[in-house]
Amino acid sequence: MTKTLIINGETVSIDVDESMPLLWFLRDRLEFTGTKFGCGSGLCGACTVHLNGQAIRACVTPVGSLADQSITTIEGLSDNGDHPLQKAWLDNRVPQCGYCQAGQIMNAASLLSQNTQPSDQDIEMAMQGNICRCGTYQRIKKAIRDAAD
Ligand code: FES
Repeated sequence: MTKTLIINGETVSIDVDESMPLLWFLRDRLEFTGTKFGCGSGLCGACTVHLNGQAIRACVTPVGSLADQSITTIEGLSDNGDHPLQKAWLDNRVPQCGYCQAGQIMNAASLLSQNTQPSDQDIEMAMQGNICRCGTYQRIKKAIRDAAD
């Protein structure tokens, strides 16, 4: 039986081995390459996307487990890169190398959807699993605070 899921608002058939990690389905089959591979073990957050609005790790999520679910990637977060977090990221010049930033933004968007006025402690708790090798953590926190205003 053919399964489908909804990715960035479009219905997509899962015509692959259902055990394939969502990360590779997004990147290799659909060419949504904004979602990055970091550790492949659910430990770094680079591959964070939304499942029905909640942050998940695409590298450890089998695509076959997502039938009829809604996935959002960084490409689908806003129409023109105008999500408040994306604006705040630019205003604060958050990225350094940039590799982890899509995952950071997707996790932050999930946080703000549940908590519109997070404290610094809320932000630190929510973001602690997203690793940045350049150490942009202070700018990430400032951008989240700005987007929440
Ligand atoms: Fe998925 Fe690191 S690549 S958590």
